[in-house]
Amino acid sequence: MKLQKGVKIAVIGAGQVGASAAFAILASGLASDLVLVDVNKEKAAGEAMDLGDAAAFIKPLDIYSGDYEDCQGANIVVFTAGANQKPGETRLDLVNKNIAILKESLPHLLKYCGKSIFLMVANPVDILTYAALKISGLPQSQVFGSGTVLDTSRFRSELSQYCGVEPRNVHAYIVGEHGDSQVPLWSTANVAGMGLEQFSKLRGLEPVNRQEVAHRVRTAAYEIIQRKEATYYAIAFAIKRICESILRDENSILSVSGLVDGIYGIQDCCLSLPCIVNGSGREQVLALSMSEEEKAALRNSAATLKDVLKQVNL
Ligand code: 2OP
Repeated sequence: MKLQKGVKIAVIGAGQVGASAAFAILASGLASDLVLVDVNKEKAAGEAMDLGDAAAFIKPLDIYSGDYEDCQGANIVVFTAGANQKPGETRLDLVNKNIAILKESLPHLLKYCGKSIFLMVANPVDILTYAALKISGLPQSQVFGSGTVLDTSRFRSELSQYCGVEPRNVHAYIVGEHGDSQVPLWSTANVAGMGLEQFSKLRGLEPVNRQEVAHRVRTAAYEIIQRKEATYYAIAFAIKRICESILRDENSILSVSGLVDGIYGIQDCCLSLPCIVNGSGREQVLALSMSEEEKAALRNSAATLKDVLKQVNL
């Protein structure tokens, strides 16, 4: 579907994640307008100028820096503003700093973006998604987070290398917290509809080492942060992918983070499950079948997040 002119994305936070997301969106041709907002106005201006210099190489895109009022009428507000993990820190350790930033900025954004879809990215993304929903009072389809979309990509990449097929033919999800309590869904992982065990036998492979794969996926960010202080390229592409499904009304199935209230015995919590993402945002949660072990792990992930929520003053 050709995008209509006048597709605007606002990126809040011009740090490594926000600037990389702007780069990925710019290269994709998804939007006609992109505004970068940051408390460090010079940084936002510098990023916009640098990206704007690519004009002759890309589809027309008006990219500029501004303030909250310049986000007026954005189709999507991508919220990346916040501190990122330092080596040894967990995503949950960032909660107080980043909730404070959200509480300061969201009310201003809502004056101009009440009809926009809010894609939360700053960590701990599940907690910030819950906070944004409560502060904004907007419908749960309109406020959701990048969640485990990146973890699911890491999982599919691992299984792709094990199976010897390209990642887009591996269907497997990471659900729950975008963090240490995340849950790999082995019971429904499949290649061309074949379960992993059946596929392994067909290809004469040794059984996959589930503990090792799950560990590598869960610790991927720590390994990268240890080496280059932050992750930003893959999350930028995850953001672009989610924006694409919204703006092209694709009905893609993506493990975004959002309000879960009732399924799997989980109440009033934001975490990731495979969802249908389209022009209306996070349209529907898919309650996949799960083994009893997976359901227990998901409930544990929800409990971890709810323990953190108890400390947050919304
Ligand atoms: C990541 O998973 C740090 O949440 C970021 O790469």
